[in-house]
Amino acid sequence: MEIRIFENKESLSRAAAQYFIEVIKSNQKPVLGLATGSTPLGMYEKLIESYNDGKVDFKNVKTYNLDEYCGIDENHEQSYRTFMNNNFFNHINIDINNTNIPNATGDLDVACELYNSQLNENEIDIQVLGIGTNGHIAFNEPGTPFGSKTHCIELNQKTREDNARFFNSIDEVPTHAITMGLANIMKAKKIILIAIGAQKAEALRKMILGDVTEDMPASILQFHPDVVILTDREAVKTLMK
Ligand code: GLP
Repeated sequence: MEIRIFENKESLSRAAAQYFIEVIKSNQKPVLGLATGSTPLGMYEKLIESYNDGKVDFKNVKTYNLDEYCGIDENHEQSYRTFMNNNFFNHINIDINNTNIPNATGDLDVACELYNSQLNENEIDIQVLGIGTNGHIAFNEPGTPFGSKTHCIELNQKTREDNARFFNSIDEVPTHAITMGLANIMKAKKIILIAIGAQKAEALRKMILGDVTEDMPASILQFHPDVVILTDREAVKTLMK
């Protein structure tokens, strides 16, 4: 694991975007693994800026998102489809048909199977990840088997509390989600994980220095050959003790 510590969100986001730009430029048909949450927003802003400056072209890009809430329509203002359209896809020249997010509105088993077969056929060149305060990546909560593929998961109370800030109340936060599994994520050729702020410090410490255990899903990344962690001083405080 390579760890890069940044002074501010601006420089971190620019560096994160640069990894994606390099992959897009060096592949004829780049496949990007994308994430939601507040952490990657700055990276999407930088990618949009680069697109507007003519520095990157998304015409041949295909994307796969990590996860989607179950039980809300894709047009719901808090669906991850809406998040991605509003914060990224609507601002670049990507073909929207090339953007993939699990369909969590119909038959969930069928949706998971379909997503897995798509991921088998399309190797992700670069995957961006955030991390939950309980160490989840995508929506793989503690206890998720390392061998898991795309599946439906019940969200932890802590995850629902963390994400309640985006909803009117915690009761509105969905109880389930479809998520890429840990085995899907580990197949990505390159992974960048972004963690910002003191609230991520404990999860980051366990992920980097702790045992590799299903109780700390992100710890599986210790086994991936090409992971870069982009972080700030607040988030690595407990690492440097
Ligand atoms: C959600 C997402 C994760 C994300 C996490 C952290 O649970 N499913 O992919 O990493 O939130 O979100 P934030 O970046 O807002 O802290």
